[in-house]
Amino acid sequence: MVVTTTISDPPELLRSTFASRYARASLPRYKMQEQPIPKEAACQIIKDELMLDGNPRLNLASFVTTWMEPECDHLIMSSLNKNYVDMDEYPVTTELQNRCVNMIGRLFHAPVGQDEKAIGVSTVGSSEAIMLAGLAFKRKWQAKRKAENKPYDKPNIVTGANVQVCWEKFARYFEVELKEVKLTEGYYIMDPVKAVELVDENTICVAAILGSTLTGEFEDVKLLNELIAKKNKEIGWDTPIHVDAASGGFIAPFLYPDLQWDFRLPLVKSINVSGHKYGLVYAGVGWVVWRGKEELPEDLIFHINYLGSDQPTFTLNFSKGSSQIIAQYYQFIRLGFEVVVCDKAGCWWQRLWLVAGCGSCGRYLY
Ligand SMILES: Cc1ncc(COP(=O)(O)O)c(C=O)c1O
Repeated sequence: MVVTTTISDPPELLRSTFASRYARASLPRYKMQEQPIPKEAACQIIKDELMLDGNPRLNLASFVTTWMEPECDHLIMSSLNKNYVDMDEYPVTTELQNRCVNMIGRLFHAPVGQDEKAIGVSTVGSSEAIMLAGLAFKRKWQAKRKAENKPYDKPNIVTGANVQVCWEKFARYFEVELKEVKLTEGYYIMDPVKAVELVDENTICVAAILGSTLTGEFEDVKLLNELIAKKNKEIGWDTPIHVDAASGGFIAPFLYPDLQWDFRLPLVKSINVSGHKYGLVYAGVGWVVWRGKEELPEDLIFHINYLGSDQPTFTLNFSKGSSQIIAQYYQFIRLGFEVVVCDKAGCWWQRLWLVAGCGSCGRYLY
């Protein structure tokens, strides 16, 4: 006997998305149509249009994560509706962000004692992180100049001409002159000697890049630290360094643990890193950490108490999702610090912290 089913309910058939009038009539492009449409039709119309986008898994454009394990996708989906800023409602999410800040601070050798807390925040990406770090430098410099009765209206920042556009945004939005070290043929990162020549009494910081956007190269932060320290000593300044480790912050500690680029260098006062690049989380998370709380002027921190207790915030946006923070914590506890070498006979490839399996033979290690 052949068992078949038929659609017995005609209205169901009429609601079939592709056969419906909703799929045939065009929607106005730039204004809302008068009437609602069924959810199936709305979803299908958008899905169809999105087919013309590229495939994220084939996108290497901005070094941003496009695949996470299904377990983490599940965590992300189950926290999509949590507004991170409601910290009293979601104290565990706040705790997870604090753990991430502490893990990153320690990864970058912030001088924090065993029972002390590292200073930092999660952001939407490195750009927001850089805005916050730049603001802290500007405010500190202004406060010092005011106290010395000196002009404080012409702050500048020294970078290589290879900086990512977010530094230009910072300079323009927050009225800081950007003094760029020119690149020369065959040398596409900031030359520390030339950078130090550009430093003057109005320099709020020198920004070095660990993982230049153009080539991936690391700038020589150690040499920069030495040269600025010398100039600071000679003239009596205290010009600090920020490291833009958007890409390199989650590479260098694992692959080049002896490379000194972070808080081991005394003039490095703040570091940003993109969680959504080699922190292996989908787009929407970055981090900024400071050497200590003295580097973060208190008047930049807002204290909100909408929902009960005092919650300090230092971010540009107020509301934001929690999923990316939870996903970052997942990657930290999931992968840990270890750099494992593939153990498959004959495979020469080293498994990086960054991938869940061997990059050469595909062996899945955990
Ligand atoms: C060196 C550097 N800094 C900052 C950024 C901005 O990062 P985000 O996209 O996380 O805002 C990038 C992005 O490519 C970068 O390469």
